[in-house]
Amino acid sequence: YKELKEFPKDFLWGASTSAYQVEGAYDEDGKGLSVQDVHTPPPGITDFKVASDHYHHYKEDIKLMAELGLKAYRFSIAWTRIIPDGSGEVNEKGLQFYHDLIDELLANNIDPIATMYHFDLPYKLHENGGWANRETIDAFEKYSKILFENYGGKVKYWLTINEQNVMINHPNAMNPGRIPSKKELYQQSHNMFVASAKATLLCHEMCEDAKIGPAPNITAIYAEKCNPSDALAADDWESIRCWLYLDIAVHGRYNTIAWSYMEEKGYTPDIEAGDMELIAKAKPDYIGVNYYATATVCASKNDGTDCQPRNGDQQVMIGEEGVYRAGVNNYLEQTDFGWMVDSIGLRVTLRRVYDRYHLPLLITENGLGAKDELQADKTVHDDYRIDYLKRHFHQAQLAITDGVELIGYCPWAFIDLVSTHQGYGKRYGLVYVDREEDDLKSLERIKKDSFYWYKEFILNN
Ligand code: BG6
Repeated sequence: YKELKEFPKDFLWGASTSAYQVEGAYDEDGKGLSVQDVHTPPPGITDFKVASDHYHHYKEDIKLMAELGLKAYRFSIAWTRIIPDGSGEVNEKGLQFYHDLIDELLANNIDPIATMYHFDLPYKLHENGGWANRETIDAFEKYSKILFENYGGKVKYWLTINEQNVMINHPNAMNPGRIPSKKELYQQSHNMFVASAKATLLCHEMCEDAKIGPAPNITAIYAEKCNPSDALAADDWESIRCWLYLDIAVHGRYNTIAWSYMEEKGYTPDIEAGDMELIAKAKPDYIGVNYYATATVCASKNDGTDCQPRNGDQQVMIGEEGVYRAGVNNYLEQTDFGWMVDSIGLRVTLRRVYDRYHLPLLITENGLGAKDELQADKTVHDDYRIDYLKRHFHQAQLAITDGVELIGYCPWAFIDLVSTHQGYGKRYGLVYVDREEDDLKSLERIKKDSFYWYKEFILNN
């Protein structure tokens, strides 16, 4: 065993949320509709209309953050609060909400980490072609300018787009109505790359001292067996799922393996003159990493059976004909929702990312979704979450010891919120919210055991 390096003194111990999953007030104070507001959830699963009602409880929630000792809070700004239709008039009340939220955070010595866009594209833009339409790039640029003009002096850490790779690989939740073809999705993706590059350049121009970066969902991909064709499939899928998105952001070029896959499949996007130059100019200052678990793959069987959904969970990787097939990893435990738990995989992932890009890393999401039970005495004994965090924090420390420049860790989530596919039945928070899927109850905030444990942990750095 090596001697462990300490977490840096100014380490950003934080917690995360996203606007549409936590705020509620989906049509209040001039907010426009986003794709999430018109998305029909499966029967029995809650929608995002009230969520955790953070819009009305933000002061109380920030008080809890302060009590927890958070150094940072990663949240997202709802584009539709700022510009209800995505590209037209600015909504003053929406602007004011985030001024108030940010001011309240700063007053409590909590660094705001703001994500500009987390799965909630304005519905009007979606109707107009969404990210496939280059006008959405202009709309995002305009939106970015407004954010930087208003909050640029207060927010030091910006994240452009949350999990662009998930939006491309699991497009169902972001595309109410028709699911776009792969070819269209890679066009959307290219347009998002251009939009992020524009936002990055603007941020550097307009905000002194601010740092900006992407926040993809990154995970090391394991080969199921040491069979070379499984190794190749793991390599291919890691490039297509992960490096494609970071190579563009950091190196300003398409990943070779991913590009050759896109060529072979006929998915290459139209690239306009000047796009690649612009992308190459826009250098991120750090990388946000959303990490939940590693994935294990084997070679495609090429027999038309690679795309079977597993466990009925849409988030579980399913495979792609001719590219890879989801493998089995018997070395890992699973959550009640069938998600793998792999704390060592976090260390592996952080090392791979740092080794490729040599930029500071910030863990922007990582956490355990569970069916927490509220006890009669208003306690929540989530020792499984404490165990999960303990093991992951330890691996983060080992990654730091390995030489990775890790600047912060924001578990998902600060407070219970609506999960993307499993509603309120799957909770991630350190703080419990008293509501059920179809019953809003009191919406009271109750500290879980993990809250007290994390508080102690932060105190001792
Ligand atoms: C990430 C997203 O993919 O995972 C979050 O950025 C999401 O928005 C989180 O909530 C957990 O996934 P889920 O499907 O359990 O909510």
